[in-house]
Amino acid sequence: MRVAIFGTGYVGLVTGTCLAEVGHDVVCVDIDQSKVDGLQRGIIPIYEPGLEPMVKANHASGRLAFTTDAAQAIAHGEVIFIAVGTPPDEDGSADLQYVLAVARTIGRHLARPTVVVNKSTVPVGTADKVRTAIAEELAARGQENAFDVVSNPEFLKEGDAVADCMRPDRIVIGASSAHAVTVLRRLYAPFNRNRDRVVEMDVRSAELTKYAANAMLATKISFMNEIANIAERVGADIEQVRQGIGSDPRIGWHFIYPGAGYGGSCFPKDVQALARTAAQHGHQPQLLNAVEAVNAAQKGHLFELIQRHYDRGEDEGVRGKTFAVWGLAFKPNTDDMREAPSRRVLAQLWEAGAKVQVFDPEAMAEARRIFGEREDLVFCDSAFAALHDADALVVITEWKQFRSPDFARMREALGDAVVFDGRNLYDPAEIEAAGLAYYGIGRGRSVHA
Ligand code: UDX
Repeated sequence: MRVAIFGTGYVGLVTGTCLAEVGHDVVCVDIDQSKVDGLQRGIIPIYEPGLEPMVKANHASGRLAFTTDAAQAIAHGEVIFIAVGTPPDEDGSADLQYVLAVARTIGRHLARPTVVVNKSTVPVGTADKVRTAIAEELAARGQENAFDVVSNPEFLKEGDAVADCMRPDRIVIGASSAHAVTVLRRLYAPFNRNRDRVVEMDVRSAELTKYAANAMLATKISFMNEIANIAERVGADIEQVRQGIGSDPRIGWHFIYPGAGYGGSCFPKDVQALARTAAQHGHQPQLLNAVEAVNAAQKGHLFELIQRHYDRGEDEGVRGKTFAVWGLAFKPNTDDMREAPSRRVLAQLWEAGAKVQVFDPEAMAEARRIFGEREDLVFCDSAFAALHDADALVVITEWKQFRSPDFARMREALGDAVVFDGRNLYDPAEIEAAGLAYYGIGRGRSVHA
């Protein structure tokens, strides 16, 4: 099928590439000429495992094209995806200006029946606004083409996006016509073999499904962080508690890892946007507000542990200390630092007069872009290089390569021999046996150490 995709960001690029991979003829449109030029030369603007070779192969085969020419793309598409950003407004609600600008562009150029698919995460009711915007532009040209607007949210995880797209656990299609469902079923048929993953529903339910999924996952994390804070105070170990509850299939093992707080481009933004939607419709979303508040506090928790440790000493506390920081990305396998807990921890350390020596396997360039050059920031080539001449280690992202370091070597490198483990990667007993003091999240020993 011939597909046009507006937006070559994370969602648009991964979706377009996977659709091309299964044989569709895809044109991706972006207003950013330099991005389009880069993509044509095989330069991928994001780090996502497996994406680059797939983009190159499909581009070379002619199934995946990149352009800034919206009119050409609209003429091409039997199905037209809207996959542009919905950044948060000042009040936390999703800013629809880019989505609606694409809708108007579609209306200005559409010359035959089509199915417009909303892939961007948008508040309930947006499909209606998209439909109105397209219809208004068509009417202005005296046209009356039939078109459908479908909500088809994505459930891609950064770092696993290609796999999630190629092997989806569900394909939500929110449509108001049988024709649109048929077209999308045909489009997704290559991803829908062996068992039917398509969940058909009305448009508004599909729009809400996306928010409900992310809000539920964010709730699990904030819940565990809350229990971790209790564990810390009562002398229990959240890691043992986690094992004790995860085996209940009603609770499950996923998304019950306490840590430095959730970040990324989805959870923080979507929880706030859903809370705004609720409030706008007259419902006070007490739970969603608490999920957000717990997370905001959790992002400051690692620094609290650091401060508590150093304030017990006789010197100037954190001031003048040097911290090795392992992990800057909001989670492993990505270079994305949007809303990353590391940003808060670094800001707090700097404010307290400390120096940091950072290492992240993928996010160093992004960190340079965000922080620039500063005297209290040293970019290091490896995890162990970051420990050199540092007083303590702070682990913020759970990259695999940080999981089993040589503790004896760590002990030798760190002046104060302290590890602040923001992801509970280490066994406290093992690390303490190596002569290091240990602080984790929700591990009662942190308080009693
Ligand atoms: C999320 C959803 O998982 C995905 O379905 C949706 O389409 C987009 O948002 P993503 O933002 O890529 O994906 O990351 P995810 O793996 O969900 O992690 C989000 C954050 O939660 C990370 O900061 C992660 O470290 C944190 N997290 C996750 C925890 O703190 N504890 C957990 O148990 C799980």
